Amino acid sequence: MKTFVIGIGGVTNGGKTTLAKSLQKHLPNCSVISQDDFFKPESEIDIDENGFLQYDVLEALNMEKMMSAVSCWMENPGSSAGPAALESDQGVPILIIEGFLLFNYKPLDTIWNRSYFLTVPYEECKRRRSTRVYEPPDPPGYFDGHVWPMYLKHRQEMSSITWDIVYLDGTRSKEELFSQVYEDVKQELEKQNGKVFFCQTVWWRRENIHNS
Ligand SMILES: Nc1ncnc2c1ncn2[C@@H]1O[C@H](COP(=O)(O)OP(=O)(O)OP(=O)(O)O)[C@@H](O)[C@H]1O
Ligand SMILES: [Mg+2]
Repeated sequence: MKTFVIGIGGVTNGGKTTLAKSLQKHLPNCSVISQDDFFKPESEIDIDENGFLQYDVLEALNMEKMMSAVSCWMENPGSSAGPAALESDQGVPILIIEGFLLFNYKPLDTIWNRSYFLTVPYEECKRRRSTRVYEPPDPPGYFDGHVWPMYLKHRQEMSSITWDIVYLDGTRSKEELFSQVYEDVKQELEKQNGKVFFCQTVWWRRENIHNS
């Protein structure tokens, strides 16, 4: 069965989860796996010499568990969209994987049909992060002492990537970002499916309007 896997990577507070959720709402037969859901418990997170918990590294994530979720979806694509989606022909099942450390994780390298990466400048990223409450909460100095340096390190590592990544300006509005990516995904799906996607989406929307 054909599938279409979208990666949405990017800096913390770049808007990855927001974008993934709005795409899921508008794309037929679309599931989302969030890397945010695979952090190890705090007791298993390393602490550096400054006392900062080392959350922004691959070792802080249970990537084996995340890969199991991805494999599970691959074995039965579209099942999480519900039985109605499986019974009807809604086109190629779409999986969005979103998270801050996707393109640095080798086992995922061959999975992507399309990769996006959200960036925001340092000041805006720090501002957005300061409005959020994480569990555990960021201690003073955490952004400059851990989060941003790790982001720069991972960006540096990404310079060896060989496939196309579409970089997105995360300071654009949520609506603009959604439209840009939605149109791009539509085009990519049309390339893969020989133009059937658009008709199916129109049909899917009609059904949804009809049922709501
Ligand atoms: N395009 C945007 N413009 C302005 N603010 C945005 C935009 N997209 C998301 N935000 C805001 O930025 C914050 C982070 O958004 P979101 O949770 O989607 O980012 P994230 O990249 O998933 O972050 P995290 O690192 O916590 O996983 C939220 O307060 C959200 O409302
Ligand atoms: Mg997120």
